[in-house]
Amino acid sequence: SLQDGQSSYPALQASIGFSLLAFVGVVWLVPKVSEAFVSKGLKGRDLLKPGGRVSGPWIPESLGLPCASLYLALMMLFIPFPFSHLFKKQTPLGPETFPQQELTLYLSSLLSLLTATLLGFIDDLFDIRWRHKLPIPIVAAVPTLLVYYSVGGVTSVVLPKGIGGWLSSLGLERWLDGNVVDLGPIYYLYLILLPTFTTNSINILAGINGVEVLQALIIALSVLINDLLFLPIWSSNLLRVLGFENPQNGRVLDWAIGEVVNRHLMSFYFMGPLVGVCLGFLWHNWYPAKAFPGDTFCYFTGMAFSAVAIQGHFSKTLILFFIPQIFNFILSCPQLFGLVECPRHRLPFYDEKTNLLNPSLVTFTSPPPLRTRIVLEILSFLRLVKLEYHDPAKDANERRYIKSSTNLTIINFLLVHFGPMREDRLCILVGFVQVMGSVVAFGVRYKVGSWFYGG
Ligand code: UD1
Ligand code: MG
Repeated sequence: SLQDGQSSYPALQASIGFSLLAFVGVVWLVPKVSEAFVSKGLKGRDLLKPGGRVSGPWIPESLGLPCASLYLALMMLFIPFPFSHLFKKQTPLGPETFPQQELTLYLSSLLSLLTATLLGFIDDLFDIRWRHKLPIPIVAAVPTLLVYYSVGGVTSVVLPKGIGGWLSSLGLERWLDGNVVDLGPIYYLYLILLPTFTTNSINILAGINGVEVLQALIIALSVLINDLLFLPIWSSNLLRVLGFENPQNGRVLDWAIGEVVNRHLMSFYFMGPLVGVCLGFLWHNWYPAKAFPGDTFCYFTGMAFSAVAIQGHFSKTLILFFIPQIFNFILSCPQLFGLVECPRHRLPFYDEKTNLLNPSLVTFTSPPPLRTRIVLEILSFLRLVKLEYHDPAKDANERRYIKSSTNLTIINFLLVHFGPMREDRLCILVGFVQVMGSVVAFGVRYKVGSWFYGG
């Protein structure tokens, strides 16, 4: 409870210790096991280095596995800490007095993480097809969702003031409770799709050294900062200056009541060591990479975000931290869903002469069908891709058609706009975009959110 919480946070201090252990552990462990991964064939060519596909350097692949293993081991060892204050009591605790609920939340999150890690690793070993890959995180999320349900999971959302009124005027007030609408099963559908999105969206914003890990790091830090805001350790003046104030009653820390604090404490326990893992792995994955994360890393970090957000009841806030991933996913849709050809790799094109990265192209050998043309022309109009046209000068009867387009990823989009760049600078640029996304997210969540939703 808040009273217990305010006196001290022993588990919070332990969690910071575990985060440091995670960082040091990953920095130490990854080079130790790299050799073994290579000898089992878990290696990939660093495609954006001299030699590229043909003779680029071999880099050990799927090093997300030792990261995830260490993380899970630490999280298992950590389980007793949030409950340690109970151990001091003289009489043994029965099922009525022990906070079973919290323990179940914790365990089901670990289960989801374990499943995600296993499935990510299987993907690394066997390169699962897209349509087989998509439902995997859904299965992994079922335990988490059932636990969410068992603790009386909320399925209602608060509508912006105007929309609530508008819907009632349409005669839908039966479904509304003031500005609150209960989405019921639809909300569960959203929660089921959330892990699919968080895992895959990080995996497809990939291809340059450090970029998957940097994204995960910034998202983890954003969630962590968001959790910290909910802990009653700040002076209310500081929060007021930052604008975290209920505009209706002018009170700060309105939200800092028992339940909510506990949920964000738990999220903090998961995010702290995750930050440690990401920082530690970035050490080896930064340009020029000595280790690749593999899909294991993307799946396990993505699932960690979903698990804490679902259990912590902040899945909508979490989505706000994925703005670059949402952008990248929407931009990718024509390629993911077959409107435009999707090559195995969409990473940028490496120019050996300049050592710089350029946008990579998808080329058309014959005129693309109308719907493809329309989509590409729209994207080109929005300056999201750069098109090249076949020159019909030779034959006057021949129609001008699209010869090539830059690949539909945020990474290529950045290269189109900022020009050729070295791999590490591009990674920093993506990181900067991610940080800006989080700044916007905090703004929307705490400033704009309160204008819209009234507190
Ligand atoms: C996703 C992307 C793909 C991108 C790939 C790169 C989609 C639909 N898929 O596929 O376009 O090319 O990630 O990770 O968008 N690699 C590098 N440098 C890096 C990281 C990876 O050269 O910094 C290469 C290595 O050869 C590595 C391979 O990419 O072995 C890993 O690819 P993998 O993660 O298996 O690709 P996908 O996740 O399927
Ligand atoms: Mg991948």
